[in-house]
Amino acid sequence: MLLEVKNLTKSFGGLLALSELSFCVNKGDVVGLIGPNGSGKSTAFNIVAGTFPPTSGQVFLEGEDITGLPAHQASARGIARSFQLVRPFLHLTALQNVMLGRLYGHQPFSSTKQAKAEAMEILRFIGLADKYDRKANSLTVMERKWLEMGRALATRPKLLLLDEFMAGLTPTEVNAAMALIAGFKEQDITVIVVEHIIKAVMNLSNHVVVLNAGTKIAEGTPQEISCNPQVIKAYLGEKYATY
Ligand SMILES: Nc1ncnc2c1ncn2[C@@H]1O[C@H](COP(=O)(O)OP(=O)(O)O)[C@@H](O)[C@H]1O
Ligand SMILES: [Mg+2]
Repeated sequence: MLLEVKNLTKSFGGLLALSELSFCVNKGDVVGLIGPNGSGKSTAFNIVAGTFPPTSGQVFLEGEDITGLPAHQASARGIARSFQLVRPFLHLTALQNVMLGRLYGHQPFSSTKQAKAEAMEILRFIGLADKYDRKANSLTVMERKWLEMGRALATRPKLLLLDEFMAGLTPTEVNAAMALIAGFKEQDITVIVVEHIIKAVMNLSNHVVVLNAGTKIAEGTPQEISCNPQVIKAYLGEKYATY
């Protein structure tokens, strides 16, 4: 087992954002984390990635208790994430942004030359090679999104948390993102995706966890989830109706 979250609870003042959330992620999994807006998905990511500690509960990575480790330490242990609101370093170039990922990743940095070569390789992979020397502030929002993915990949993560990466992408870009994510398994990257594009989540995931108002209401295979009456009522019904 790669990741286990156990009874994760988070309150912000009087607001219970997450309540007793437990689930497991096996190596090579693509786990879909879905639910309505405000159901606690980003909060769960924030806790796992060390943005803030839980109010109670625990996070285990490869059996080790990493609860409350700050973000740079979580990153050093192989957890990378993309933010729902992208925030690359705007005054650095695309290449420098990706190289930063390499510097702060969980595998030792070898040499600037090698880091540069690897960062270029990743830029090629995400389709930004020809813009390597452009500052991030001159890239489009979508390009910044891909850049953020590149920076996360450069950390050589064991576990990659993607928070609404596909939001706002064109159908062609969604397909490109799906192909990219589907290829992560071969690179030993395990993924948790938060997405509202249900077709994509169901296609990619081998396991789906459903949150509603901070509470897990179901988990199972995409097949099981898509015919779960409680899930349809809380979330999918409306989604499928508007698809
Ligand atoms: N840093 C924060 N401070 C206060 N409230 C927060 C914070 N982050 C999230 N929340 C609240 O917690 C709940 C869950 O939010 P979030 O995890 O962002 O949901 P989701 O990602 O599923 O849309 C929401 O009610 C949100 O307003
Ligand atoms: Mg969110």
